[in-house]
Amino acid sequence: MSEEADTRLLVTGGAGFIGSNFVRHVMGATSHDVTILDKLTYAGRIDTVSDLLGPRVRFVLGDIGDAALVSPLVAESDAVVHFAAESHNDRALHDPRPFVETNVVGTFTLLEAVRAHGARLHHVSTDEVFGDLAYDDTARFDERTAPDPSSPYAASKAASDLLVKAWVRSFDIRATISNCSNNYGPYQSVEKFIPRQITNVLRGRRPQLYGSGRNVRDWMHVDDHSSAVLAILENGTIGETYLVGADGERSNRRVVELILELTGQPSDAYDLVADRPGHDRRYAIDATKLRDELGWRPRHRDFATGLGQVIDWYRANEAWWAADKDRVERYYAATER
Ligand code: NAD
Ligand code: TYD
Repeated sequence: MSEEADTRLLVTGGAGFIGSNFVRHVMGATSHDVTILDKLTYAGRIDTVSDLLGPRVRFVLGDIGDAALVSPLVAESDAVVHFAAESHNDRALHDPRPFVETNVVGTFTLLEAVRAHGARLHHVSTDEVFGDLAYDDTARFDERTAPDPSSPYAASKAASDLLVKAWVRSFDIRATISNCSNNYGPYQSVEKFIPRQITNVLRGRRPQLYGSGRNVRDWMHVDDHSSAVLAILENGTIGETYLVGADGERSNRRVVELILELTGQPSDAYDLVADRPGHDRRYAIDATKLRDELGWRPRHRDFATGLGQVIDWYRANEAWWAADKDRVERYYAATER
């Protein structure tokens, strides 16, 4: 992709957690203009990006599954960076339909517009498409790992990845795919693990750990995900998949203990609650290809420091999450297992 000043990116899901952080990153790191296309579901908020809107960033409200809306937006863009998705595993277990509609049919709709107009596409996906790893295994996911999803969310993302691969092979679209590990950072919905536990502590509630708390996620800072996506967009090989991770494996229990320590609470002040059905045990990424081929390196190397900064962000931005917190905890209470 060119580095010219008049490059326009269409960023789907740009009002969500990772999409909005990506748009902020693009504003600082490039001179590209951005059109955000977002449906503003429960997971997307206009006030996440309102400070960015202006000469370089435009917001369009709409659904990636709306072909009549999507087609002209793709036609006027040099590249599409596709973050929009239904993204929460717990919700998918209660109501999988929107996951199929947005993640599968929505991605299909976008692919057809990309095929018609010849835009470059980067498809953002997750390591959850690979299923899980055993706790006592030293193996990690890499680009040779086959899809083997366990959950409705992961299956819908795996389906979208396969659609992108097929459109590259059959229709010669110019696309790349990234599968990233769990992200942490500012502007993440309080229904997700880390913001839920931070805001629980800030509200005087005890963190809630599913099952034994032994499950392992491979945490990386959202800014490092943004720099990886930009590197792939600009220098990745068309048709290739890149795994994105920063060697951040930690058990959920250890993450909660760290949140409690960083907020001055006893490190055992959490509750173990009913496990998530089908709960994936461990995710771990080998990002050698991204590092070797594109020279990408994560900047946030110290998890405790990054987590402390995110706690400070939620402390300072209660107005951003307070209303959502009540809604989310009502949702969790109503769907309790
Ligand atoms: P998010 O739920 O915070 O944001 C998703 C955004 O997409 C929201 O703004 C929502 O309004 C929008 N959206 C949903 N359905 C839409 C539709 N039909 N049309 C237009 N917009 C729609 O999710 P996130 O955590 O920012 O994840 C973004 C992407 O990154 C997803 O594709 C996800 O699979 C992937 N991913 C996430 C993680 C993670 O740790 N959160 C890790 C790896 C990959
Ligand atoms: P989540 O943020 O939902 O991401 P994902 O399921 O996509 O990895 O959850 C991260 C981990 O935290 C996962 O193992 C489930 C666990 N978890 C809890 O223990 N308690 C909670 O309240 C939530 C929301 C998640």
